[in-house]
Amino acid sequence: MGKKITFLGIETSCDETAASVIKENEKGTADILSNIVSSQIEQHKKFGGVVPELAARAHLENIEFIIERALKESKISIKEIDGVAATAGPGLIVCLTIGLNIGKAIAAFSNKPFIGVNHLEGHALSPGLENKIEFPYLLLLISGGHTQYLIVKDVNHYEQLGTTIDDALGEAFDKTAKMLDLGYPGGPAVEKFAKLGDANYFKLPEPIINRAGCNLSFAGLKTAVLRESKKINGENKLKYNLAASFQKTINKILYKKTKVAVDMFRKKTKKENCKLIVAGGVAANETIRNNLYSLSKEIGFKTVYPDLKFCGDNAAMIAWAGIKRFKKNLTDNIEISAKSRWPLDKEAPYMKGPGLKL
Ligand code: KG4
Ligand code: ZN
Repeated sequence: MGKKITFLGIETSCDETAASVIKENEKGTADILSNIVSSQIEQHKKFGGVVPELAARAHLENIEFIIERALKESKISIKEIDGVAATAGPGLIVCLTIGLNIGKAIAAFSNKPFIGVNHLEGHALSPGLENKIEFPYLLLLISGGHTQYLIVKDVNHYEQLGTTIDDALGEAFDKTAKMLDLGYPGGPAVEKFAKLGDANYFKLPEPIINRAGCNLSFAGLKTAVLRESKKINGENKLKYNLAASFQKTINKILYKKTKVAVDMFRKKTKKENCKLIVAGGVAANETIRNNLYSLSKEIGFKTVYPDLKFCGDNAAMIAWAGIKRFKKNLTDNIEISAKSRWPLDKEAPYMKGPGLKL
């Protein structure tokens, strides 16, 4: 057994300021020595979405304290860590730069290796924090800025099977919540109020559901929700029906497209044995979890959902991606700069759309 690597991870790509210290363990997974996440929900609530300047200011105010807390809680000193990893993209440049610069500074002053992590690789490898999972596996990444099906072949090796051609799924949830005035953050609010509604009340469009492949589209669905929301005069029962119908439509689309993605995975990898990992903030949605679990029973694959604390943005997944890259000698030069767009699969076509925040 080689030396067990310990890393400090830092994450500031969007509206969570996070730091974490993790260490590899004998099981091939990670011991989470600390995992501090400071959410900015309160700052952005009154605007119904993330305001980049406010997010950057909050990161700046919090980051030192969050890193100090992560180190203190881990009972590990800077001297004892083997390297520092910070998210370098994709995301809001003003936000990324804050975590990236402080990460580089810590690494430089303590003479440790530095790794600028792709946030999407953080999500993609996050199941490894708790489970030893063999490559390749199928990943459905559903968050506020990204919606993709990918084959995770190895660290640094990804093949994109499909992506949204317009809005990200989390964004569709957030906008639906805003249109229906259900609260912020939108995803959990839609899920909560949908429980009170009749999911069959509204017939909503299922954009590109019958098109070949596993690309997704949510813009037309969002427009339909807007149209219906204008007719219901804020009547609560109808609002809940609309939230429930929206969520049901999303689940129908995901069921169909995930089936296609599993099929593509099997053909491309020549492996019947498929594991589907669902990661990103939207993976917290119970109805989506149950829906894909039903599909897994129907066509015989295994689903793995990271624990809720590793679904949304966190720095443990950044530290883990850092360890994985470090072990493959994929360290970075201190000159690495923040990137707003950074696809995991460089060969994948760029599906430009209003909601594709890559
Ligand atoms: O991964 P994440 O924390 O941040 C990004 O990288 O974007 O994902 C945040 C997204 C938001 O759009 C939020 O509304 C959504 O995840 N979300 C949910 C739920 N919890 C969070 N969407 C649907 N149902 C939920 N329970
Ligand atoms: Zn994320």
